[in-house]
Amino acid sequence: MQKIGTKLIETERLILRRFRIEDAEDMFNNWASDPEVTKYLTWPAHRSVEVTKALLNDLVPRYEDGGCFNWAMELKETGSVIGNISVVGLNEATQAADMGYCMSRAHWGKGLMPEALRAVMEFLFDEAELNRVSACHDLNNPKSGRVMEKAGMKLEGVHRAAGKNNTGICDVVVRAMIKSDRIHRQ
Ligand SMILES: CC(C)(COP(=O)(O)OP(=O)(O)OC[C@H]1O[C@@H](n2cnc3c(N)ncnc32)[C@H](O)[C@@H]1OP(=O)(O)O)[C@@H](O)C(=O)NCCC(=O)NCCS
Repeated sequence: MQKIGTKLIETERLILRRFRIEDAEDMFNNWASDPEVTKYLTWPAHRSVEVTKALLNDLVPRYEDGGCFNWAMELKETGSVIGNISVVGLNEATQAADMGYCMSRAHWGKGLMPEALRAVMEFLFDEAELNRVSACHDLNNPKSGRVMEKAGMKLEGVHRAAGKNNTGICDVVVRAMIKSDRIHRQ
């Protein structure tokens, strides 16, 4: 793999870029403070913008590490940051990344996350030269599974009672794409 870090990616409607400390207000207001967004996530909704600022203060220096892949999703139309897509687990031995993402409720249902995931997957396969990109979701959160399907990931299975999020212990659905899946699609 190539440890090239978080590079700018442009899609039809989005600029995917590194977070800046100044994104704290957008991040807090648009998604991090919303318990509906964090319902199936492992972290609690932020109770104040100070929590968001602390998180970004921790993240921004980590961009120096080429193994840090964490994008802010900036909506071209408005210039505001509406979500986040990142590699939450990187396995250099198997050249594999596990993805996580979340987005402002005001923008759900417009296909924006599939658009972001497709672009990030292309980057991870073609530029970072990874062999596998996976993601998982709570069985009770099928809309996240739809994002993975739309981005071309295949269902691999369900790990029963293997996860824990803000709703408690849950069944975890795993999906992935490997490099050879793409060759066969062309
Ligand atoms: C999961 C999530 C990223 C989906 O992003 P998105 O850009 O809305 O994705 P899509 O527009 O492709 O919609 C995906 C599915 O969400 C559902 N959906 C669409 N609009 C919705 C709305 N307004 N409210 C609730 N669900 C909606 C639909 O089932 C849709 O599937 P369909 O296109 O087959 O009908 C977003 O809902 C989100 O941020 N959720 C909270 C965080 C989260 O669960 N992250 C994933 C953890 S594994």
